[in-house]
Amino acid sequence: MNKLKGMFDITTDQGYYALIQNAIQTMVRAHDIKRIDTPLLEASELFHRGMGDDTDVVSKETYTFQDRGNRSVTLRPEGTAGVVRAFIEDKLYADPDNVKKMYYEGPMFRYERPQKGRFRQFHQFGVEIFALPSPALDADLCALAYDFMNTLGLSGHLEINQLSKSSKPAYTQALKAHLKPHLNTLCSDCQNRFEKNPLRILDCKVDHDHPAIQSAPMPLDYMSEEETAYFNRVKSHLDALKIPYTVNKKMVRGLDYYTGIVFELKVDEAMLGHQNTVAGGGRYDELVQTLGGPEVPATGFAFGLERLVVALKEANIPPLNPPLDLYIMVLDETLSETALTLARKLRLKGARVDLAYHGGSMKKQFKAVTHKNASYAAILGPDEVEKGCLTFKNQRADASSEVALNDLSTMLNILGVNQ
Ligand code: HAM
Repeated sequence: MNKLKGMFDITTDQGYYALIQNAIQTMVRAHDIKRIDTPLLEASELFHRGMGDDTDVVSKETYTFQDRGNRSVTLRPEGTAGVVRAFIEDKLYADPDNVKKMYYEGPMFRYERPQKGRFRQFHQFGVEIFALPSPALDADLCALAYDFMNTLGLSGHLEINQLSKSSKPAYTQALKAHLKPHLNTLCSDCQNRFEKNPLRILDCKVDHDHPAIQSAPMPLDYMSEEETAYFNRVKSHLDALKIPYTVNKKMVRGLDYYTGIVFELKVDEAMLGHQNTVAGGGRYDELVQTLGGPEVPATGFAFGLERLVVALKEANIPPLNPPLDLYIMVLDETLSETALTLARKLRLKGARVDLAYHGGSMKKQFKAVTHKNASYAAILGPDEVEKGCLTFKNQRADASSEVALNDLSTMLNILGVNQ
């Protein structure tokens, strides 16, 4: 039996995911963001209403099926819609705190054509913030995403844009009028998008350099004065935070719910090819209402963890692979119980300990010490037991120390385990 196409096992890459988990914890702790978990499976309607029927994700990429009760259900293709549903259903908006920050991480499912950095089951780390619009908040969210990458040792480039809420109909009309005469020279995807989702034509990868797209009116040209002032404030906050960014006038994002500032973080194409967008997000001020809740504006982003793993490897950043503190070599089978007892006591005090269950020659056991990258090796043989002490051999330096077999505290000190 093989895994399904576009799916993958996480086996030897666990250290990279552990590294990412650490960075997530560092960031959410620093920003005081609470965790939220929502089901992997939701009513299909949530995504149709939330993300937009005409988006590629909803129209072509969802895993949708009838459950045994004949309900149409969908494996979540992203986290935002589920978080908003929970926000409404659990009345989280009633919390007196006027800024509600939440994060999630877990698997998402999209039936896409698999390629480097693009899978059918992948993982996202996302943050959603429910609060009145504020340029400071939007800039802080960009800073969080940017700093998260730095925490990992990666550098991402921030691209921002703003989609006008007030003039979306007028803008869409102008864009269509501009593109119409060139329609038959655009790619087939763009021809389909023309009626259903014309804004997406702007960030088409195929027609990227098409003259009609290059000369098309951009959402930024249609901002109200108020929206322009808002965008300028976000930019000046980013300048003050010394976060480099470029304004990408053509960025529209793939989902329908965005209403204002949108942004993406990208790494070098050399690392990930076309799938070099590691994070995307933006303001979605109307989604809570669209899904039946009160008028609560919101903003957020999500990172794709697999793309980060590829970027970490390309940047030669080592995975998190904490070494074993101690490997106990057992030279005689009759000493197994002494070794087990010692290992157990040290483990319960927080040390990372393994031991030779099967005995074997000294040479073989030393090989295990090296293979497991243990910081210390201890040899337990009849001589040691008779003397009542054990030699801790430092594997990183040419040094060893003798410790009484019952002196747990000194052992822990040597291993550097806080007591
Ligand atoms: P998205 O741009 O669709 O936004 O996805 C966010 C990130 O998930 C992408 O930048 C990419 O790194 C990763 N990703 C998406 N599809 C795949 C795939 N098939 N394989 C691997 N990685 C993938 C959203 O999902 C929004 N919910 C983000 C958001 C949160 N906006 C506001 N709040």
